[in-house]
Amino acid sequence: MCGIVGVVGAAAEDNIVEKIIDGLEKLEYRGYDSSGIAVVRDGGIECLRAVGKLQNLKMKLENVRMRGSVGIGHTRWATHGKPAENNAHPIVSGGVAIVHNGIIENYLQLKAELQKQGFVFKTETDTETVAHLLQRETAAGLSPREAFRNVLGMTEGSYAIAAIFSSLPNTLFVVGNRSPLAVGTGENMCAGSDVNALSSLCDEVVYPRDGEWAEITANDVLFFDKDFNEIRPKKHRVCESCIGGGKGEYAHHMLKEIMEQPNAVRRTLLYNKTEPDFKDVSEILILACGTSNYAGMVAKYWFEKFLRIPTNVEIASEYRYRSPVISDGTLAIAVTQSGETVDTLEALEYVHKYGNAKTAALANVRNSAVSRVSDFVFYTEAGIEVGVASTKTFTAQLAILAGIAFCRFPDLIGELQKLPELCEKTLELNDEIRDLAGKISSTNSAVYLGRGPLYPIALEGALKLKEVSYIHAEGFAAGEMKHGPIALIDDNIPVICLCPYDELFEKTSSNVRMALARGKNIIVFTDAKGAKLLPTETTKIILPEVRSEFAPILYVIPLQLLAYHTAVLRGADVDKPRNLAKSVTVE
Ligand code: G6P
Repeated sequence: MCGIVGVVGAAAEDNIVEKIIDGLEKLEYRGYDSSGIAVVRDGGIECLRAVGKLQNLKMKLENVRMRGSVGIGHTRWATHGKPAENNAHPIVSGGVAIVHNGIIENYLQLKAELQKQGFVFKTETDTETVAHLLQRETAAGLSPREAFRNVLGMTEGSYAIAAIFSSLPNTLFVVGNRSPLAVGTGENMCAGSDVNALSSLCDEVVYPRDGEWAEITANDVLFFDKDFNEIRPKKHRVCESCIGGGKGEYAHHMLKEIMEQPNAVRRTLLYNKTEPDFKDVSEILILACGTSNYAGMVAKYWFEKFLRIPTNVEIASEYRYRSPVISDGTLAIAVTQSGETVDTLEALEYVHKYGNAKTAALANVRNSAVSRVSDFVFYTEAGIEVGVASTKTFTAQLAILAGIAFCRFPDLIGELQKLPELCEKTLELNDEIRDLAGKISSTNSAVYLGRGPLYPIALEGALKLKEVSYIHAEGFAAGEMKHGPIALIDDNIPVICLCPYDELFEKTSSNVRMALARGKNIIVFTDAKGAKLLPTETTKIILPEVRSEFAPILYVIPLQLLAYHTAVLRGADVDKPRNLAKSVTVE
């Protein structure tokens, strides 16, 4: 959450404002409550901030001639202090400006100390303490480098911070501690919350480890560890797969990413052929949040059926606080698109601390924090996902989990390779689903039903609709409907059922009939065989026939499209749904 970027111009007269804005555009997925930019100019700091999306800042910038050869930018997802201009970053204190992602956990204590020393706080943020501390240290005669290093010793929590000083027109200081940070070198020296934000500025990046910091100038970067020792961290080439493209021919990133799923699944299957070692594994524990948690729930069905290993799926934010017991022989798998969801990371840390377990992770973002806290990482090869609602990374996660689950069944692994083609065929339903969206776009509420591994898909379908269209939607295990949710059904509420002709067809289709006896808007996602047997009064969407094991990967696609088109019809900002952020680094 929150995106930070900082750039040092290649030459003293180089103007970096556009470069910072370019970086912020790529980071807007991390938050869009407010944004801001600050530069050093003529021995002073110039700062401009705006509430709301980056567009508002860009409009403000049209009326001022902002220039500078070093600068920082921020896009915010509010934690401490409501989304308002005074709480927007950069935060300036005298000759210092900073941007911050994360939480300064001891800020109340620091604030009290600074207030006693006469500092006046103008924001409700935790970040302002760091700006004042830096100002205090430099006013006391320390160099910016010494001040930066000293202040890092005073702050606790998770943070990625970039700071500029009015006394240094060509220097940027950055630090990362349990918040993502990449430092770029090449044509421009820069830093940002992810490599994509820096991709048009540099050729190589360094991912500082927790507590490491850097002093960046136009020609050089010096890296230091916590103890002020100079270090030489490993550089990585900025690779194609780290860079997200634009929207291409599509109106939204979300639609583009839905359409990219055949390739995301294809690449993921191609690059993940490692056969996991289940020797001594007596239990699997999956830790995840949000959509990734639903991928884990699907995997539970697969792992227990095919690997015959007991599997538990836990919501990471619950797991870490309930003193769980970890049996010896546990393999804990964190599933996280971003690789930086704090609850998932902390849950995995809990396993390390209190269990004698092996750990692995599934992530889409390379070198993300989860790679530092797990023994092994499987990477989904979905490419950068910009839309806040996860789509292609979910199907890519399922592809890896399926590969793991079916590893002892060569016929299933062989058939898995046909999945990208089936995804392509399923995407041909796009126009039909756009029309269907018209049937549900004015509802206030929707019910999703599924059985077996399609139950988590019902949950995911409901989540997608909530996230992007703001329609209240709930997913239920179809068999549970009669225990309560059936009371919701009337002629108006859409009931969306996942009912392929599989081994549970008789059961699920009877749930469809129960719903039809009480409501009129029953929409069934099925296949040709199922369609023949389902009541004619239902609206049927016919998917390609697929082995029931693979159905979750296929059946989520029309639900993503349904959520997308419904949101578009309702005029919602699909790629940046209100109140959400793509990567959640706060609890
Ligand atoms: C946020 C995103 C969701 C995502 C969840 C978990 O809430 O908006 O799309 O599923 O975080 O994220 P992760 O990166 O751990 O998969």
